[in-house]
Amino acid sequence: MTRSSLALQFYRTESVMKLAKRIQKVTPSLTLAIEAKAKRLKQEGVDIISFSAGEPDFDTPLQVKQAAIESLNKGFTKYTPASGMLELRKAISEKLSRENHLAYSPDQIVVSCGAKHSIYNMLQVLIEEGDEVIILSPFWLSFPEMVTLAGGTSVILKTEFENGYVPSPRALEKLITKKTKLLILNSPSNPTGAVMTKELLKEIAAIAKKHSFFILSDEIYEKLIFDGGTHYSIGSLDPAILERTITVGGASKSYAMTGWRLGFSASAKPIAEACGALQSHSTSNPTSFAQAGYLEALKTAEADVQNMRATFEKRRDLIFRLVSDIPKLKPFKPSGAFYLFTDISGTKLPSLQFADRLLDEAKVAVVPGVAFGDDHTIRISFATSEKLIEAGIVRIREWLKKI
Ligand SMILES: Cc1ncc(COP(=O)(O)O)c(C=O)c1O
Repeated sequence: MTRSSLALQFYRTESVMKLAKRIQKVTPSLTLAIEAKAKRLKQEGVDIISFSAGEPDFDTPLQVKQAAIESLNKGFTKYTPASGMLELRKAISEKLSRENHLAYSPDQIVVSCGAKHSIYNMLQVLIEEGDEVIILSPFWLSFPEMVTLAGGTSVILKTEFENGYVPSPRALEKLITKKTKLLILNSPSNPTGAVMTKELLKEIAAIAKKHSFFILSDEIYEKLIFDGGTHYSIGSLDPAILERTITVGGASKSYAMTGWRLGFSASAKPIAEACGALQSHSTSNPTSFAQAGYLEALKTAEADVQNMRATFEKRRDLIFRLVSDIPKLKPFKPSGAFYLFTDISGTKLPSLQFADRLLDEAKVAVVPGVAFGDDHTIRISFATSEKLIEAGIVRIREWLKKI
């Protein structure tokens, strides 16, 4: 071993020893690992078709970009209030009232660097060592990790393909203990695309009130609903449930603004104030001119959203039909978001091996279900063109014939 590699190894050991326990419990993202491998292969010139994207493939609407550019040109480059500029919080408050029937005043809203940041902040604000947080599986992979980072314990409520990947209220009630502090909902869901009905939300709300726990409702995919369906916000059911609900939304998935990093939480005033205080000592405000873009999106981008939604629905129909025709695969028909969650039990392969071999042998990237707590599935994103969907699914079909 050379001197420099010894030094490197020593440095690594030392730094691992110095890492805080809380971060040692966190697992690096499996989705990012597959994506990184797919990107590396692409850079090496390999013809990869990627179904791993967690973001719309559309560009941000032009007028939104222009609003941000104009604000920059006008010198809007300084700090804003830590919780976000008042005009933007007012616009979010109006949007929540108009579209979601939620009564939150601007001082109950905190704008953060993406919905992920909003959720992270809220878990830091609400969860203490030993608190239990109920998470529905299959889950968005950051939920359990963020609970761990807050010192809490994730309690998994499994949902099944056969029941439309929505929870049974009875199964939920069975998991409740004295330590239950919070339930995380995500409708439409990543990774399944399942959408919860108003009736189901009412039953869940009744349980939350009976057992006095909070609900964090992650509604980041709210605008992407198919078949003429409606998105319901659980907080809109009655004032008592609103009081114990933290509603999270953002610009990323609705307006194709993932890189802008803008999300928000809306909650009871003491919670919002605590969240604002936390943010004021960590990131401070989200980027000033990005906020100006989000304001424009809220004011003028509804037609753009509807176009994107309609395109996603067409792709959903196409990919669902194509994958349904493949003997060893069983796709779940999503009612929202842009993922086709697909059962691979017929192949007898664990999901990571499936995804890895598919990438190596057929040059198609998907996300293994194990990342979402379900090893019998893969997630196929349809945030890509119809042409690539057709070509990629042919590759998967032909590869499955050979294995
Ligand atoms: C369910 C869910 N919630 C939150 C987020 C985070 O969104 P943002 O990009 O606004 O941080 C994502 C992003 O993939 C998601 O899938």
